[in-house]
Amino acid sequence: MHSRSHPYLGSVEPEEISSDPLGFLLSVTRQHGDIVSYESYGRSVTLLNHPSYARHVLQSNAKNYTKENTPDLLMLSPMLGQGLMTSVGDSWQRQRRQLQPLFHRHRVESWVEVMGELADETVEKWRDWQGSASPLDVSDEMTQLTVRILCRTLFGTDLPDQSGNFSEAVAALNQSMAHYDPFDANAQRRFQEARAELRAMAESIVGQRRGCPYARDDMLASLFGGERNEGESGEAFDRRIKDQVVTFLMAGHETTAKSLTWTFYLLSQFPEVAEKTRREIDFQLGDGEPTAKELDGLEYCRKVHQEAMRLYPPVWSMTRTSCSFDEIDGYEIPAGELVVVSPYALHRHQDFWDQPDSFIPDRFGASHEEECEPFRFIPFSGGSRVCIGRHFATLETRMILAKIVRNFSLSRPQRGPVEPEALVTLCPKGGMPLWIEGAHHNNHKA
Ligand code: HEM
Repeated sequence: MHSRSHPYLGSVEPEEISSDPLGFLLSVTRQHGDIVSYESYGRSVTLLNHPSYARHVLQSNAKNYTKENTPDLLMLSPMLGQGLMTSVGDSWQRQRRQLQPLFHRHRVESWVEVMGELADETVEKWRDWQGSASPLDVSDEMTQLTVRILCRTLFGTDLPDQSGNFSEAVAALNQSMAHYDPFDANAQRRFQEARAELRAMAESIVGQRRGCPYARDDMLASLFGGERNEGESGEAFDRRIKDQVVTFLMAGHETTAKSLTWTFYLLSQFPEVAEKTRREIDFQLGDGEPTAKELDGLEYCRKVHQEAMRLYPPVWSMTRTSCSFDEIDGYEIPAGELVVVSPYALHRHQDFWDQPDSFIPDRFGASHEEECEPFRFIPFSGGSRVCIGRHFATLETRMILAKIVRNFSLSRPQRGPVEPEALVTLCPKGGMPLWIEGAHHNNHKA
């Protein structure tokens, strides 16, 4: 079979991409189609924007596509070291096998009460905030809540310094990692400071358990109980544990927090959707604490959250390097090519989504329907490197949505849309200040 040719844009100035990565992705894919190549940052790049191409790279021929030598790895490794997110090959496989049991659905469901308790603390705080003269930065609030849930469930502890500026450190990392410039001394300093703060938190979390590693049956117990590599020193083993703690500290809260932030933003813009969500919550949930089963039954909440992640996928782009020559649908992919799959562009593909830029939660049908069109919707990626925390995130977001929407109405102080900013995750430019008011219930059950 003859190989097919696809659009080649020649050399693209790095600034053309970095000044507006999302605009670049949308305009290139909408103008040039599902596969397009260009040169940038001295690399030959192929952007793939068809569900079956994404599936090829992430699942069917995933063995030919590695994270090695990708901008994602370059950006994340200095922060995350050799944890699950940034490892490849045998090392990745061993880690995934070791940690997978912690993220099985039934295991995750055992954390539902902790999730509910911590969400209640946020509800209490917001109640006190109601009626105050300034809006609340919901993005910041979600960062704090999701990191606390993560620390309690996986590490059996609270953040070492609750009053510390954890969300500031995360925001600084997001900025400096996304706009990485080795020649900008100030940016380097900010990155190093934020990195040091997070490593210190990891050290404190791990340090608390050194004397009693198996005091709880959680991720730390699993990490301390892991096998040492041949000839590995105690110090190197300890560093690996800390790398994993930092990895989960970051990967396990930041994405979830952003998905909730965008959901609350959309609910503030679409009061009728917020109302329908609230009606479902009032109708489906009893007066007691929501169980995992009840939360699982919140179908409209699921659609709202999925639609928010379609429009604003927290992980907006994924990159891989091709190990050897490959063909995708007859198109040649040379060895060493940088391959980009963007959930952001794919989720707004005009051939696969009707009115792709509009917020329409009901476009998502029954959950099994998504299986008919796999890889059209990939907020958690797919294939063997699919997000390990997806059940965790689903339960957690459902719990937080239920508690917040049941109790509050949210509205925006300013008019006009909030711009997404493509940092490590997809962040709202300027945060997400929202007014908090008590919710009105039209259909109260009790
Ligand atoms: C809405 C929330 C979340 C979203 C949208 C999300 C999205 C993703 C995506 C797209 C990937 C694949 C990245 C790539 O291959 O380049 C990923 C991987 C990962 N996620 Fe999530 N994630 C979420 C929540 C979580 C949670 C709650 C945890 C942990 C508690 C977590 C831990 C991880 C880890 C460790 C990986 C790397 C897995 C591997 O490479 O084997 N994520 N996530």
